[in-house]
Amino acid sequence: MARPMKRILVTGSAGQIGSELVMVLRDRYGNDDVVAGTNRTQPSKAVQESGPVEVCNINDKGQLHSIVDRYDIDTIYNMAAILSAVGEQKPLLAWHVNMDGFHNVLECAREKELARVMNPSSIAAFGPETPRMNTPQETVLKPKTMYGVTKVAGELLGDYYFKRFGVDVRGVRYPGIISSETLPGGGTTDYAVAIFYEAIQKKRYECFVREDTVLPMMYMPDALKGLIDLAEAPLENLKHHCDFNMASMSFSAGELAAEIRKHIPELEVTYKPDFRQAIADSWPQSIDDSAAREEWGWKPSYDLATMTKDMIEKLSARLL
Ligand code: SER
Repeated sequence: MARPMKRILVTGSAGQIGSELVMVLRDRYGNDDVVAGTNRTQPSKAVQESGPVEVCNINDKGQLHSIVDRYDIDTIYNMAAILSAVGEQKPLLAWHVNMDGFHNVLECAREKELARVMNPSSIAAFGPETPRMNTPQETVLKPKTMYGVTKVAGELLGDYYFKRFGVDVRGVRYPGIISSETLPGGGTTDYAVAIFYEAIQKKRYECFVREDTVLPMMYMPDALKGLIDLAEAPLENLKHHCDFNMASMSFSAGELAAEIRKHIPELEVTYKPDFRQAIADSWPQSIDDSAAREEWGWKPSYDLATMTKDMIEKLSARLL
């Protein structure tokens, strides 16, 4: 039987997902019981002011172990990662952080018998040989980016640690995540966030993928709820562990622009694909997430229209 989760460390807590995850976890488990770990970037004011913050480089084993000991951590959400676009510019760094760093997290969990490790995977685990529509749970995993390579290897390593050492590691294959609090950094799906900021502030946006580029996306509240629901799911219900497909909505860059134009009719979008187009073209367009639905009750709440409306309301209140 898994130990109950009491004290949580979130690595990468200054990042797009980590910064919001910390606040939701603090609401749920108490401010003092959620430690925000960050390496180089300062976390948001909200994160800094609401609970403990520690410098945490997952590649520094001693530092990681010391935080886990000092705070009596029993659960790690490992959100520190180098994303797909930066990973192509700095492939060795992507391997170092996403693999060596994750391995340190797993070893720490094994040695200290932690209750749970959450480690997100991504649609980047798939590649051009994978069926692109309604991508099955069990399918070809031959990614062409270093980020994708580390995500597939991370899924396998996490599953191995569960089977071999009994470490309860879990993860979802996130699609592109859209959010209004912290900008994403270095991903291929970043255009789906950047377009909102530019639409509100400048009424124009130059998109780095083609208008007809379709990718699976998800709004942050669903992404957080899903990850926490998986973390809290009874172990005996899970047949999968580190590789759950997770879907919400799929749309083209052009369809997103059209939806935003319902609120900001003046928006002008031009398309100038760069190296990220090839990455986007190697990823699925839509995902079959029936395993997540069956094993831990996954169900998203937002669609393109409700996400767009909420993003524009939240960002307009902050930026204008
Ligand atoms: N959003 C990520 C990226 O674009 C995919 O996991 O790299």
